[in-house]
Amino acid sequence: MKKSNLPSAKNPSSRRIQVRQSGVHGKGVFARQDIPKGETIIEYVGEIISAQEAEDRHPHDPTDPNHTFYFQIDNDRVIDALHGGNSARWINHCCTPNCKPVVTEDRVFIKAKKNISAGEELNYDYGLIIDEPMTKKLIAQYPCWCASPKCRKTLLAKKSKSRKEKDNNKDKANEIRKTIKKLKAQLKRLTH
Ligand SMILES: C[S@@+](CC[C@H](N)C(=O)[O-])C[C@H]1O[C@@H](n2cnc3c(N)ncnc32)[C@H](O)[C@@H]1O
Ligand SMILES: [Zn+2]
Repeated sequence: MKKSNLPSAKNPSSRRIQVRQSGVHGKGVFARQDIPKGETIIEYVGEIISAQEAEDRHPHDPTDPNHTFYFQIDNDRVIDALHGGNSARWINHCCTPNCKPVVTEDRVFIKAKKNISAGEELNYDYGLIIDEPMTKKLIAQYPCWCASPKCRKTLLAKKSKSRKEKDNNKDKANEIRKTIKKLKAQLKRLTH
């Protein structure tokens, strides 16, 4: 049986928040009262599955392939909130978020990163990592509509130096492969 982190009792903190239509995207989660910085607001729950299982299940909705209820815990484990999820699954992304997810072993808690006022929409930085070069096409597949003055225009994570280096190395390796292929073809022509 697959392991799940479903809570045994309804989270009492869920009374402080409310799910309703968001101006950013679809449904969102809003504070019903002031929430001080540092407070744990809600646990992100759902079925814990392997990264491979998550890939196999993807997309949940073929007409909207980049929409998921996944939370990536680490390289191996993903929470699929489509199964057994609570209100946390409706929290939208923001590039200057007021919440942050805190991962402790196999549990994820959404905490207030700032003082949040009643009525404010809750959000955290999804920081999506897709193992592909950060092209305009990829960015367009994961647009961000958070409207923050510091919006990155994408739900994708800012690329770290090591990821940039990895991509540059991949590009160089591809160039070398192409050159070898050309040289092999030339050699073949010369020897026949
Ligand atoms: C787990 S859902 C969050 C709830 C979502 N609003 C809904 O109604 O389904 C995650 C999806 O919401 C969308 N989303 C969340 N934040 C967004 C943002 N800032 N800009 C654009 N789309 C966003 C993306 O499609 C993302 O894959
Ligand atoms: Zn943004």
